Amino acid sequence: MTAQLIDGKLIAQQVRDDVAAEVAKRTAAGKPQPVLATVLVGERVDSATYVAAKGKACQDLGMGSVNHHLPANINQEDLEKVISDLNADKSISGILVQLPLPSHLNEERVLQLISIEKDVDGFSPINIGRLAQKGREPLFVPCTPYGCIYLLEQAGVKIEGANAVVLGRSNIVGMPAALLLIGKNATVTVCHSKTKDLPGVIRQADILIAAIGRTEMVRGDWIKPGAAIIDVGINSKPDASKKSGYRLVGDVNFDEAKEVAGFITPVPGGVGPMTIAMLMKNTLRAAQIQQGEI
Ligand code: GUN
Repeated sequence: MTAQLIDGKLIAQQVRDDVAAEVAKRTAAGKPQPVLATVLVGERVDSATYVAAKGKACQDLGMGSVNHHLPANINQEDLEKVISDLNADKSISGILVQLPLPSHLNEERVLQLISIEKDVDGFSPINIGRLAQKGREPLFVPCTPYGCIYLLEQAGVKIEGANAVVLGRSNIVGMPAALLLIGKNATVTVCHSKTKDLPGVIRQADILIAAIGRTEMVRGDWIKPGAAIIDVGINSKPDASKKSGYRLVGDVNFDEAKEVAGFITPVPGGVGPMTIAMLMKNTLRAAQIQQGEI
Protein backbone atom coordinates (compact mmCIF):
# COMPACT_ATOMS: atom_id res chain seq x y z
CA MET A 1 0.00 0.00 0.00
CA THR A 2 1.42 3.34 -1.02
CA ALA A 3 -1.60 5.54 -0.32
CA GLN A 4 -2.19 7.33 2.96
CA LEU A 5 -5.56 6.30 4.38
CA ILE A 6 -7.93 9.19 5.15
CA ASP A 7 -9.73 8.06 8.30
CA GLY A 8 -13.26 9.46 8.00
CA LYS A 9 -14.37 7.84 11.23
CA LEU A 10 -11.68 9.63 13.21
CA ILE A 11 -12.13 12.99 11.46
CA ALA A 12 -15.94 12.77 11.83
CA GLN A 13 -15.51 12.07 15.55
CA GLN A 14 -13.34 15.19 15.90
CA VAL A 15 -16.04 17.28 14.18
CA ARG A 16 -18.69 15.76 16.45
CA ASP A 17 -16.58 16.42 19.57
CA ASP A 18 -16.15 20.07 18.54
CA VAL A 19 -19.90 20.45 17.95
CA ALA A 20 -20.74 18.76 21.28
CA ALA A 21 -18.34 21.09 23.14
CA GLU A 22 -19.88 24.17 21.53
CA VAL A 23 -23.42 22.94 22.26
CA ALA A 24 -22.49 22.33 25.91
CA LYS A 25 -21.02 25.85 26.13
CA ARG A 26 -24.21 27.38 24.70
CA THR A 27 -26.46 25.35 26.96
CA ALA A 28 -24.41 26.37 30.01
CA ALA A 29 -24.84 30.01 28.92
CA GLY A 30 -28.63 29.52 28.94
CA LYS A 31 -29.07 29.57 25.17
CA PRO A 32 -31.71 27.33 23.59
CA GLN A 33 -30.69 23.84 22.55
CA PRO A 34 -30.21 23.37 18.77
CA VAL A 35 -33.01 21.14 17.48
CA LEU A 36 -33.11 19.24 14.18
CA ALA A 37 -36.47 18.35 12.65
CA THR A 38 -36.37 15.41 10.23
CA VAL A 39 -39.20 14.63 7.82
CA LEU A 40 -39.44 11.06 6.61
CA VAL A 41 -42.12 10.16 4.07
CA GLY A 42 -42.99 6.50 3.54
CA GLU A 43 -41.38 3.23 4.56
CA ARG A 44 -38.03 3.03 2.74
CA VAL A 45 -35.78 1.04 5.06
CA ASP A 46 -32.59 2.87 4.01
CA SER A 47 -34.18 6.30 4.58
CA ALA A 48 -35.55 5.24 7.98
CA THR A 49 -32.08 4.01 8.97
CA TYR A 50 -30.44 7.32 7.96
CA VAL A 51 -33.08 9.38 9.77
CA ALA A 52 -32.70 7.28 12.94
CA ALA A 53 -28.91 7.76 12.79
CA LYS A 54 -29.37 11.53 12.46
CA GLY A 55 -31.66 11.63 15.51
CA LYS A 56 -29.22 9.51 17.51
CA ALA A 57 -26.32 11.83 16.57
CA CYS A 58 -28.30 14.84 17.82
CA GLN A 59 -28.87 13.07 21.12
CA ASP A 60 -25.18 12.08 21.41
CA LEU A 61 -24.09 15.70 20.87
CA GLY A 62 -26.56 17.29 23.29
CA MET A 63 -28.93 18.57 20.62
CA GLY A 64 -32.64 17.93 20.31
CA SER A 65 -34.41 16.19 17.45
CA VAL A 66 -37.96 15.55 16.33
CA ASN A 67 -38.95 13.22 13.53
CA HIS A 68 -42.10 13.64 11.50
CA HIS A 69 -42.80 10.24 9.97
CA LEU A 70 -45.48 10.75 7.34
CA PRO A 71 -47.42 8.16 5.34
CA ALA A 72 -46.17 7.25 1.84
CA ASN A 73 -49.47 8.44 0.31
CA ILE A 74 -49.43 11.91 1.90
CA ASN A 75 -50.45 14.62 -0.58
CA GLN A 76 -48.32 17.62 -1.54
CA GLU A 77 -50.45 20.09 0.36
CA ASP A 78 -50.29 18.20 3.64
CA LEU A 79 -46.52 17.73 3.34
CA GLU A 80 -46.07 21.42 2.59
CA LYS A 81 -48.15 22.27 5.68
CA VAL A 82 -45.73 20.24 7.83
CA ILE A 83 -42.78 22.19 6.39
CA SER A 84 -44.51 25.56 6.86
CA ASP A 85 -45.29 24.74 10.48
CA LEU A 86 -41.63 23.77 11.09
CA ASN A 87 -40.49 27.02 9.44
CA ALA A 88 -42.69 28.98 11.85
CA ASP A 89 -41.72 26.98 14.94
CA LYS A 90 -39.09 28.99 16.86
CA SER A 91 -37.95 25.90 18.78
CA ILE A 92 -36.73 24.25 15.54
CA SER A 93 -33.21 25.16 14.32
CA GLY A 94 -32.87 22.96 11.23
CA ILE A 95 -35.20 21.09 8.87
CA LEU A 96 -34.16 18.03 6.87
CA VAL A 97 -36.49 16.29 4.42
CA GLN A 98 -35.06 12.84 3.77
CA LEU A 99 -34.74 12.12 0.04
CA PRO A 100 -35.88 10.56 -2.18
CA LEU A 101 -39.55 11.41 -1.72
CA PRO A 102 -42.23 9.11 -3.18
CA SER A 103 -42.58 9.91 -6.90
CA HIS A 104 -46.05 11.53 -6.67
CA LEU A 105 -44.56 14.38 -4.60
CA ASN A 106 -42.86 17.45 -6.07
CA GLU A 107 -39.43 17.45 -4.41
CA GLU A 108 -38.40 20.82 -5.81
CA ARG A 109 -41.44 22.58 -4.36
CA VAL A 110 -40.86 20.97 -0.98
CA LEU A 111 -37.17 21.94 -0.88
CA GLN A 112 -37.81 25.51 -1.96
CA LEU A 113 -40.33 25.90 0.84
CA ILE A 114 -37.75 25.23 3.58
CA SER A 115 -36.68 28.53 5.13
CA ILE A 116 -33.06 29.12 4.04
CA GLU A 117 -32.04 29.85 7.64
CA LYS A 118 -33.16 26.30 8.56
CA ASP A 119 -31.98 24.52 5.38
CA VAL A 120 -29.32 22.38 7.07
CA ASP A 121 -29.08 20.09 4.01
CA GLY A 122 -28.30 23.08 1.80
CA PHE A 123 -30.68 21.81 -0.91
CA SER A 124 -32.96 24.83 -1.20
CA PRO A 125 -32.60 26.51 -4.61
CA ILE A 126 -31.30 29.69 -2.96
CA ASN A 127 -28.50 27.91 -1.11
CA ILE A 128 -27.54 25.86 -4.19
CA GLY A 129 -27.78 28.99 -6.38
CA ARG A 130 -25.42 30.87 -4.09
CA LEU A 131 -23.01 27.91 -4.10
CA ALA A 132 -22.98 28.13 -7.90
CA GLN A 133 -22.21 31.86 -8.04
CA LYS A 134 -18.90 33.63 -7.68
CA GLY A 135 -18.58 35.87 -4.63
CA ARG A 136 -21.73 34.51 -2.95
CA GLU A 137 -21.92 32.23 0.03
CA PRO A 138 -24.67 29.72 0.81
CA LEU A 139 -25.90 29.71 4.42
CA PHE A 140 -25.37 25.92 4.44
CA VAL A 141 -23.24 23.59 2.32
CA PRO A 142 -24.75 20.15 1.49
CA CYS A 143 -23.45 17.66 4.04
CA THR A 144 -21.83 14.90 1.96
CA PRO A 145 -19.88 17.20 -0.41
CA TYR A 146 -18.94 19.37 2.59
CA GLY A 147 -17.56 16.19 4.22
CA CYS A 148 -15.58 15.30 1.07
CA ILE A 149 -13.88 18.70 0.96
CA TYR A 150 -13.27 18.63 4.72
CA LEU A 151 -11.50 15.25 4.38
CA LEU A 152 -9.27 16.60 1.58
CA GLU A 153 -8.37 19.65 3.65
CA GLN A 154 -7.69 17.65 6.80
CA ALA A 155 -5.41 15.32 4.81
CA GLY A 156 -3.48 18.38 3.58
CA VAL A 157 -4.39 17.88 -0.09
CA LYS A 158 -3.95 21.08 -2.11
CA ILE A 159 -7.20 21.85 -3.93
CA GLU A 160 -6.25 25.17 -5.53
CA GLY A 161 -4.92 24.59 -9.03
CA ALA A 162 -5.54 20.81 -8.88
CA ASN A 163 -7.23 18.91 -11.69
CA ALA A 164 -10.31 17.54 -9.95
CA VAL A 165 -12.64 14.98 -11.49
CA VAL A 166 -16.10 14.37 -10.04
CA LEU A 167 -17.64 11.10 -11.16
CA GLY A 168 -21.43 11.50 -10.92
CA ARG A 169 -23.64 14.61 -11.13
CA SER A 170 -26.39 14.01 -8.57
CA ASN A 171 -28.08 16.94 -6.84
CA ILE A 172 -27.06 15.53 -3.45
CA VAL A 173 -23.36 14.83 -4.06
CA GLY A 174 -21.76 15.19 -7.49
CA MET A 175 -23.03 18.59 -8.59
CA PRO A 176 -22.52 20.42 -5.25
CA ALA A 177 -19.10 18.74 -4.86
CA ALA A 178 -18.09 20.11 -8.27
CA LEU A 179 -19.32 23.60 -7.31
CA LEU A 180 -17.37 23.51 -4.04
CA LEU A 181 -14.18 22.47 -5.85
CA ILE A 182 -14.64 25.28 -8.38
CA GLY A 183 -15.08 27.70 -5.47
CA LYS A 184 -11.73 26.49 -4.11
CA ASN A 185 -10.01 27.16 -7.44
CA ALA A 186 -9.65 23.59 -8.71
CA THR A 187 -10.03 22.89 -12.42
CA VAL A 188 -13.06 20.64 -12.44
CA THR A 189 -14.34 17.99 -14.85
CA VAL A 190 -17.70 16.35 -14.14
CA CYS A 191 -18.07 12.85 -15.59
CA HIS A 192 -21.20 10.74 -16.02
CA SER A 193 -22.58 7.77 -17.91
CA LYS A 194 -22.15 9.47 -21.30
CA THR A 195 -18.52 10.58 -20.75
CA LYS A 196 -16.16 9.36 -23.48
CA ASP A 197 -12.94 7.64 -22.42
CA LEU A 198 -13.69 7.75 -18.70
CA PRO A 199 -10.39 6.02 -17.74
CA GLY A 200 -8.47 8.61 -19.77
CA VAL A 201 -10.26 11.54 -18.09
CA ILE A 202 -9.80 10.08 -14.60
CA ARG A 203 -6.08 9.51 -15.30
CA GLN A 204 -5.69 13.32 -15.42
CA ALA A 205 -7.17 13.76 -11.93
CA ASP A 206 -5.07 14.97 -9.01
CA ILE A 207 -8.30 14.70 -6.99
CA LEU A 208 -11.10 12.21 -7.73
CA ILE A 209 -14.49 12.32 -6.01
CA ALA A 210 -16.33 9.14 -7.03
CA ALA A 211 -20.10 9.32 -6.48
CA ILE A 212 -21.67 7.24 -9.23
CA GLY A 213 -23.03 4.30 -7.23
CA ARG A 214 -21.34 1.57 -9.32
CA THR A 215 -19.52 -1.21 -7.46
CA GLU A 216 -15.72 -0.85 -7.75
CA MET A 217 -16.07 0.79 -11.17
CA VAL A 218 -12.83 2.80 -10.99
CA ARG A 219 -9.84 0.52 -11.52
CA GLY A 220 -6.32 0.99 -10.22
CA ASP A 221 -4.86 1.67 -13.66
CA TRP A 222 -7.31 4.60 -14.13
CA ILE A 223 -5.65 6.47 -11.28
CA LYS A 224 -2.87 9.02 -11.57
CA PRO A 225 0.01 8.10 -9.26
CA GLY A 226 -0.23 10.16 -6.07
CA ALA A 227 -3.84 11.25 -6.63
CA ALA A 228 -6.26 11.87 -3.74
CA ILE A 229 -9.28 9.56 -3.98
CA ILE A 230 -12.54 10.34 -2.13
CA ASP A 231 -14.92 7.42 -2.55
CA VAL A 232 -18.56 8.32 -1.82
CA GLY A 233 -19.99 5.01 -3.09
CA ILE A 234 -21.67 2.59 -0.69
CA ASN A 235 -22.45 -0.58 -2.64
CA SER A 236 -23.09 -4.09 -1.36
CA LYS A 237 -21.01 -6.84 -2.93
CA PRO A 238 -21.73 -10.57 -2.47
CA ASP A 239 -19.22 -12.08 -0.02
CA ALA A 240 -19.75 -15.65 1.14
CA SER A 241 -17.25 -15.19 3.99
CA LYS A 242 -19.60 -12.71 5.71
CA LYS A 243 -22.53 -13.75 7.87
CA SER A 244 -24.76 -11.28 6.03
CA GLY A 245 -23.58 -12.70 2.66
CA TYR A 246 -22.31 -9.31 1.50
CA ARG A 247 -19.86 -6.55 2.30
CA LEU A 248 -19.84 -2.82 1.56
CA VAL A 249 -17.51 -1.50 -1.13
CA GLY A 250 -17.11 1.83 -2.86
CA ASP A 251 -17.16 3.06 -6.45
CA VAL A 252 -13.38 2.59 -6.56
CA ASN A 253 -11.56 -0.75 -6.47
CA PHE A 254 -9.80 -0.05 -3.16
CA ASP A 255 -7.23 -2.88 -3.30
CA GLU A 256 -5.99 -1.74 -6.71
CA ALA A 257 -6.28 2.00 -6.07
CA LYS A 258 -4.40 2.01 -2.76
CA GLU A 259 -1.25 0.87 -4.58
CA VAL A 260 -1.31 3.90 -6.91
CA ALA A 261 -3.04 6.78 -5.09
CA GLY A 262 -1.41 9.22 -2.68
CA PHE A 263 -4.49 9.42 -0.41
CA ILE A 264 -7.61 7.28 -0.29
CA THR A 265 -10.79 6.99 1.80
CA PRO A 266 -11.92 3.49 2.80
CA VAL A 267 -15.49 2.17 2.46
CA PRO A 268 -16.89 1.91 5.07
CA GLY A 269 -15.25 4.45 7.39
CA GLY A 270 -14.43 7.18 4.86
CA VAL A 271 -17.03 9.64 3.62
CA GLY A 272 -19.97 7.82 5.29
CA PRO A 273 -19.46 9.09 8.86
CA MET A 274 -18.76 12.61 7.56
CA THR A 275 -22.30 13.20 6.25
CA ILE A 276 -23.90 13.12 9.69
CA ALA A 277 -20.95 14.95 11.30
CA MET A 278 -21.39 17.84 8.84
CA LEU A 279 -25.17 17.78 9.39
CA MET A 280 -24.52 18.25 13.11
CA LYS A 281 -22.16 21.15 12.32
CA ASN A 282 -24.87 22.69 10.09
CA THR A 283 -27.55 22.25 12.77
CA LEU A 284 -25.40 24.06 15.32
CA ARG A 285 -24.78 26.77 12.70
CA ALA A 286 -28.54 27.09 12.15
CA ALA A 287 -29.05 27.70 15.87
CA GLN A 288 -26.27 30.32 15.80
CA ILE A 289 -27.82 32.05 12.77
CA GLN A 290 -31.23 32.15 14.43
CA GLN A 291 -29.76 33.60 17.60
CA GLY A 292 -28.10 36.33 15.52
CA GLU A 293 -24.61 35.09 16.51
CA ILE A 294 -23.39 34.73 12.91
N1 GUN B 1 -30.70 11.02 0.84
C1 GUN B 1 -29.44 10.57 0.61
N2 GUN B 1 -28.54 11.43 1.11
C2 GUN B 1 -29.25 12.44 1.67
C3 GUN B 1 -28.87 13.63 2.36
O1 GUN B 1 -27.70 13.96 2.55
N3 GUN B 1 -29.90 14.40 2.80
C4 GUN B 1 -31.20 14.07 2.58
N4 GUN B 1 -32.12 14.91 3.03
N5 GUN B 1 -31.57 12.99 1.94
C5 GUN B 1 -30.60 12.18 1.50
